[in-house]
Amino acid sequence: MIIAIDGPAASGKGTLARRLAEYFDFAYLDTGKLYRAVGLGVLRIGGDPEDEDQALDVAQNLDPAQLDDPDLKGDDAAQAASKVAAIQSVRAALLDFQKTLAAHPPGGKAGAILDGRDIGTVVCPEAEAKLFVTASVEERANRRHKELLDRGETSIYERVLADLKERDARDSSRAVAPLKPADDATVIDTSQMNADEAFDKAVEIIQPIY
Ligand code: C5P
Repeated sequence: MIIAIDGPAASGKGTLARRLAEYFDFAYLDTGKLYRAVGLGVLRIGGDPEDEDQALDVAQNLDPAQLDDPDLKGDDAAQAASKVAAIQSVRAALLDFQKTLAAHPPGGKAGAILDGRDIGTVVCPEAEAKLFVTASVEERANRRHKELLDRGETSIYERVLADLKERDARDSSRAVAPLKPADDATVIDTSQMNADEAFDKAVEIIQPIY
């Protein structure tokens, strides 16, 4: 069984996906990490994330060990990720890894949960359950801002908001695999929900087909 969870940055989809994976004992892949690892890899060689040759070279040589790099969480990696993610050949290079994990979840698990931007539309259009998790950009910026402060990092709300808007615009307007709900996805707007409420809502949707 495959559960596809898509949505914009800081919508709560990652937290939700991890909790669902634990609850259903499914494998979990945060596909954003793949794009972040490529973006960061390009930055580390002093390259330009919008340069197709450089980004494709990093994508083709991606080592799964790079997915554990703590720097993937940073804003530089996020912005670079959304630039390499707009390149068709980079997306194609990362597709097999995602499809294979979904079809053959590691650890002999009975299912897989993938979260990202195009799981329900491109990576796993056959997924049995598709959720599109979203929230207003102001609420998402609030959450990200708080998360950064809680981690002891400096953060300016207006800066976080501007970064999210920039990434939303790039992810939604790109020609390849733009961020949008699949026709058969259920939209969960978490603007007025806490993590527990979003989890309960998702379980309500998935349980009947589990
Ligand atoms: O989800 P996360 O914020 O880690 O994703 C980083 C960037 O990677 C996104 O802004 C998006 O451009 C890209 N991405 C994507 N497709 C996915 C997952 C992430 O284009 N399936």
